[in-house]
Amino acid sequence: MTDDRVAALKKIADEIAACTRCPLYNGTTHPVPGAGDPFAEIIFIGEGPGYYEDQQGLPFVGRSGDYLTYLLKLIDLEREQVFITNVVKHRPPNNRDPQPDEIIACKGYLDDQIALIQPAVIATLGRFSMARYFPDGKISQIHGQPKYASEPVIAYYPLFHPAAVLRNPNLRRTMEEDIHRLPEIVAEVKKRRSGSNPGSSGKPASSKDDDLPMQQLKLF
Ligand code: URA
Repeated sequence: MTDDRVAALKKIADEIAACTRCPLYNGTTHPVPGAGDPFAEIIFIGEGPGYYEDQQGLPFVGRSGDYLTYLLKLIDLEREQVFITNVVKHRPPNNRDPQPDEIIACKGYLDDQIALIQPAVIATLGRFSMARYFPDGKISQIHGQPKYASEPVIAYYPLFHPAAVLRNPNLRRTMEEDIHRLPEIVAEVKKRRSGSNPGSSGKPASSKDDDLPMQQLKLF
């Protein structure tokens, strides 16, 4: 089973490396399928690779990545203990925003990665990955508020993009408070998965939590 999952993730990475579903692969140095623990409890999803990610074939290895690594350490996690990826797996030229058709072309790879890893929490970094789960959400209003879904039990957790926080240091404290809540959200998902009654032992991770059926969340 362990080897199956590793092999299946490798197969997705190989497909991404050969992908021509959208023009983004043109002119890139490396595909950036994602990296981390195939059994991670948390998946972080960013926007798309930048210059350094394209050079190395790894997600979040530039300045934003250094900050993400710092944030993970705040909750005693190393990068290798989570899975980090993006909504598009090749670098958009000049770091422009990924376009809707590019995100759609790449969607199946991300869906497959998530289905294999079966994380407890999907933490979105910035508005493009947030839009998969919160199509009408405004990051400034919904960051730090987990949304729990059932079948499978999972939490979607919208976070600011690390680059946005680096650009606006006023967001730093908020971002770090949001990150600090991740362990309790993982614990809440585990509790719900193990069948215990989430309402019986006090407040869950957020007073705004509610269950969403999976179909409603697969809008993007
Ligand atoms: N920004 C992203 O959204 N993803 C990366 O991998 C790096 C920077």
